[in-house]
Amino acid sequence: MRVTVSVIKADVGSVAGHHRPHAEMLSYAVRKIEEAEKSGLILSGYVTHAGDDIVLVMTHTRGVNDPEVHGLAWSTFREITEKVAKPLKLYGAGQDLLSDAFSGNIRGLGPGVAELEFEERPSEPIVVFAADKTEPGAWNVPLYRMFASPDNTAGLVIDPKLHTGFKFEVLDLIESESVILKAPEELYDLVGLLGTPGRYAVSMVYRAIDDEPAAAASTTRLSLIAGRYVGKDDPVLAVRAQAGFPAVGEILSAFAIPPVVSGWMRGSHRGPLMPVSFRKGHNVVTFFDGPPRVIAMGWQISNGRLVGVDRKEPADLFDDPFFDYSRRVAAEMAVYLRTMGEFEPARLGHEEMEYTTLPQILERLKPRFRKLEEAASHRG
Ligand code: F6R
Ligand code: MG
Ligand code: MG
Repeated sequence: MRVTVSVIKADVGSVAGHHRPHAEMLSYAVRKIEEAEKSGLILSGYVTHAGDDIVLVMTHTRGVNDPEVHGLAWSTFREITEKVAKPLKLYGAGQDLLSDAFSGNIRGLGPGVAELEFEERPSEPIVVFAADKTEPGAWNVPLYRMFASPDNTAGLVIDPKLHTGFKFEVLDLIESESVILKAPEELYDLVGLLGTPGRYAVSMVYRAIDDEPAAAASTTRLSLIAGRYVGKDDPVLAVRAQAGFPAVGEILSAFAIPPVVSGWMRGSHRGPLMPVSFRKGHNVVTFFDGPPRVIAMGWQISNGRLVGVDRKEPADLFDDPFFDYSRRVAAEMAVYLRTMGEFEPARLGHEEMEYTTLPQILERLKPRFRKLEEAASHRG
């Protein structure tokens, strides 16, 4: 059967700053998802959070960009905002809902969307990642490692289905255009673009041998929609695994050495992407509103439904003592970067600060700047 996995997320308010959603927000979302399962709109759904973002994972047969499925996510986020977050005066209530103009597609309105449509294999493992305090380009290093680096993914060398490589659809988030690049043939061009994660982000990965979709990522840049700083985009990513795709262990090993990503504190800092357990409640951000973190949920898709370790409950893939090592490295990187205070590269570069208050500081100081010759004559 043809199945679609839709992962849609939004930050519509949280408790104790930009920390985590209130339990009532999550239970409201669970009720909406259960109603949609009963009505047959979706086959199955799961609700979780990554830091202050609510994440809806839904499976159905309606294809990508389906108005009803997007509508379900939109009304869920809207109702949670109005019925729970605002009455409780939660912090940043409705933060990511940037427009009321929903007309069938949630893309471009604030929430992040990653969708994969495929013919279900005899056995279909998938991994869904959700990150907080970062941006879509945060997936660039892990996706490069998973689908283009034989140092990470042994299958690229060993498995004939992976050996022909993968195609990356790369978005230019500033110009709103995309290009498809094939690894390994165009690896250096690909790395050339992915090395600028604030501008170029991967939206889709396809297996080259048969163009089967392998991964889908959300690519919303809230600041580019709103024209001002409105919190970070906190992306999601869905990846198909095993039997002709990277093994789950190869997919996870892409996160073992934390990449430095943008979006920490006030969306203006770089920090390590720390892989954490969600079942242990470690998917919350505290130290300097971070550091940025990522959770990994593992399922089988079975007759279009999510099958986890206990009914729909996903495998908590970063809850492996091995990843204590990654967390330790991430904590050390985080502390080290904080010793830099407000200096690049701990703080973002000038161009990426465009949507923060830095331009206001520069604007205020503008009249006091003097041309060098003039300044020299002032000094006599
Ligand atoms: C980052 C984030 C937080 C806030 C910070 C200041 O994505 O959400 O780091 O930017 O807590 O928030 P305000 O300006 O709302 O006090
Ligand atoms: Mg928030
Ligand atoms: Mg967030």
